[in-house]
Amino acid sequence: MRKFFTYRNGILHAESVSIPNIAESVGTPFYCYTTAALEHYYNFFQSALKGLGEVCIHYALKANANIAVVRTLANLGAGADVVSEGELRLALAAGISPQQIVFSGVGKTPEEIAFALQTGILQLNVESEAELWTIHRIATTLNTVASVSFRVNLDIDAKTHHKMTTSRKEDKFGIEWRKIPSLLQSAISLPHLKVVGLTTHIGSQITNLQSFRKSFMRMRDLITQLNASGLPIRRLDLGGGLGVLYDPDSAADLPPSPTAYAAVIRETLGDCHCQILLEPGRFIVANAGLLVTRVLYVKEGSNKIFVIVDAAMNDLIRPSLYGAFHAILPITEPRLDMSRQTVDVVGPICETSDVFAPQRSLTPAFPGELLALDGAGAYGATMASTYNLRRLVPEILVKGDKFSIIRRRPSYKEMFALESLPPWL
Ligand code: LLP
Repeated sequence: MRKFFTYRNGILHAESVSIPNIAESVGTPFYCYTTAALEHYYNFFQSALKGLGEVCIHYALKANANIAVVRTLANLGAGADVVSEGELRLALAAGISPQQIVFSGVGKTPEEIAFALQTGILQLNVESEAELWTIHRIATTLNTVASVSFRVNLDIDAKTHHKMTTSRKEDKFGIEWRKIPSLLQSAISLPHLKVVGLTTHIGSQITNLQSFRKSFMRMRDLITQLNASGLPIRRLDLGGGLGVLYDPDSAADLPPSPTAYAAVIRETLGDCHCQILLEPGRFIVANAGLLVTRVLYVKEGSNKIFVIVDAAMNDLIRPSLYGAFHAILPITEPRLDMSRQTVDVVGPICETSDVFAPQRSLTPAFPGELLALDGAGAYGATMASTYNLRRLVPEILVKGDKFSIIRRRPSYKEMFALESLPPWL
């Protein structure tokens, strides 16, 4: 959805700010997010849930954990889904209250568990029996009661990219659904544990409602079974996963609207008398961000044209890691009568996989030109690295006709500051 990034007088703008103006001020590459888009996607998601009773949105920080982005969402009432002490601390610093935070992940360390318990978060989503006993031990030492929700492995294929499906029995996530009743039975008698509900998350970038429906039905069956055995469930965390449209020119993989997604929740779990928690990440932020880059060279290979840009796979790894599609927008609006060329848009990193767009039809690129990778607001900056000793790129937040640097480019000195030579060198 490009309505927050539009051409004005032939130049790409984020809201009312021209992208070349930002480039001039901060240099390239950089991430650019817009406040209006963040607010739009959050509000759109939230309003789709009206009618579902008590629903809480716990934004999944892993999608984009910049403090200004999280604060923008916190101001709209968002809670957080975190998966590390770092994300928990960031959520708190962004203004999210502990009672709006859930903590997921298969490998929480004892230190992270202790920190979460001391902070007094809403719930820890437990992913294994071993983790449950660790939480109990730590809660006992701290003389507190840990609120836990059991993450269920539903043995369901979310039918998304195989690296983003999380609830098949061969996946590392969650506790096998058949084991839940007996584990719950043993947990409820423990004084330092309070089982507050069940959780699931079947995967990410899901574009078919059928997978959601199947998983929610299985959750429903489980709740019915537990209720019948005197183990009432009153809170359900249904995870994230709703897909977004990355390629507006393709009819394939059209994601369902949040309204259709909410209808499936209502249809399957509407009469469960449970408070519903959701953990959307991508849906809120993906289309609120661009990665802006500059063309360095255009190189004619023997059978291909390479457009070499100054951003690389270390800045946005999704195309290299998942073969993900990101639309490429020229910053100067292309005229309809302009010819097109099929090119590979690649980064400077010394890896053949450093390709943003293989065999993409674009208007002819020229050195110095600015391009933007669309849909880069989710899993872009958060997955960046300094591979090839490239500096992390700045992040910019636009609001109306203003923009602000919400993460600056580090100096090389800062980048190397944590390294030191051993005494023998
Ligand atoms: N909750 C849990 C427990 C999760 O593991 C995730 C994502 C979410 C919520 C948020 O899911 P979303 O609404 O964003 O789909 N790096 C991949 C995506 C990995 C998602 C991991 N877990 C990508 O770039 O597409």
